[in-house]
Amino acid sequence: MREPTQEEGTLLDVRHLTIGFPAEDGGRIDVVRDVSFTVDAGETVALVGESGCGKSVTALSLARLIPSPPVSYPTGEVRFRGVDTLRLSRRDLQAVRGSGIAYVFQDPGTALNPVFRIGFQLCEVLAGNRQQRREQALDLLAQVGLPASSFQAYPYELSGGMQQRVVIALAIARHPVLLVADEPTTALDVTIQAQILDLLKQLQQKLGMAVLLITHNLGLVADVAHRVNVMYAGMLVERGEAEVVLRHPAHPYARGLLDVVPRLERVTGRLSGIPGMVPAPGRLPSGCPFADRCPHTAARCREAVPPEIAVSEGYPVHSVRCYFPLVSSGGQHA
Ligand SMILES: Nc1ncnc2c1ncn2[C@@H]1O[C@H](COP(=O)(O)OP(=O)(O)OP(=O)(O)O)[C@@H](O)[C@H]1O
Ligand SMILES: [Mg+2]
Repeated sequence: MREPTQEEGTLLDVRHLTIGFPAEDGGRIDVVRDVSFTVDAGETVALVGESGCGKSVTALSLARLIPSPPVSYPTGEVRFRGVDTLRLSRRDLQAVRGSGIAYVFQDPGTALNPVFRIGFQLCEVLAGNRQQRREQALDLLAQVGLPASSFQAYPYELSGGMQQRVVIALAIARHPVLLVADEPTTALDVTIQAQILDLLKQLQQKLGMAVLLITHNLGLVADVAHRVNVMYAGMLVERGEAEVVLRHPAHPYARGLLDVVPRLERVTGRLSGIPGMVPAPGRLPSGCPFADRCPHTAARCREAVPPEIAVSEGYPVHSVRCYFPLVSSGGQHA
């Protein structure tokens, strides 16, 4: 299967990433398993899956925000601009975290310091003299659609949606080339969710940064993502161009996610349309991790984890980990 090369603008190239945590019996439990995907410069890529699939662990590991052994055991490679962040020195890692990869998390309340005004918190992460920082902070507020008066406000004086805009302003303050947004809208009201996604899309286009959008809601990605990676029980089970995956999902799990798309609603963590639950790491069925919930499970599915196979040729690659994909290898849809 052809993979994009650095010359083609690959910004992030995650290869065979596996992350384990220590188990009580002294062994390790892998919660992310053999995950490979890429993000090109300036594009939006979604990482989608139910609660507990390993999305946040994957996201945090990109800038190595999960401490290495004995806390976690990452293997594989996370190539960011050609350099493996899993093997960077502490100093080089700071540079990646500062202006390379920035994060926006689910709950804006916890990302802001309640005792400082918004303007102060923005100025803190900016460079230059007082006047320059103030100007940059006001410019950032405007970029995220907030009035200049928010400069003087305390976080509690702003709504949840406005707070998330401030968090996004903080994240883009140092011009990241990759913004990782981990469930950036699930703590917000329905209408505000759409506005925040729209803002992320606008900023991605205007600033030319890449966005890794993490969500449990496959329906949300249609308007924003160029590519989609569908994650299940620590593995990527399908990846491809968003339009193609959403229209012709090849993995029964992706199909199931689409069938139950909870459009713009609060996260419940469970999808009623797919029976059962994500198996806990360490309690996976043998073979395909989705076998216990899949409507198409056959004996073969219990024998070994399906390898990743190409569904169609071309770039970006559309691939699936399934012995019986819903799309035939010739690109004809079953
Ligand atoms: N520090 C840790 N130590 C041990 N296990 C962990 C740790 N962090 C996460 N896990 C486990 O790893 C698995 C994946 O967790 P993760 O937070 O990545 O899921 P997620 O896909 O982001 O889910 P959600 O949609 O609920 O945010 C879970 O089973 C979780 O319990
Ligand atoms: Mg998470």
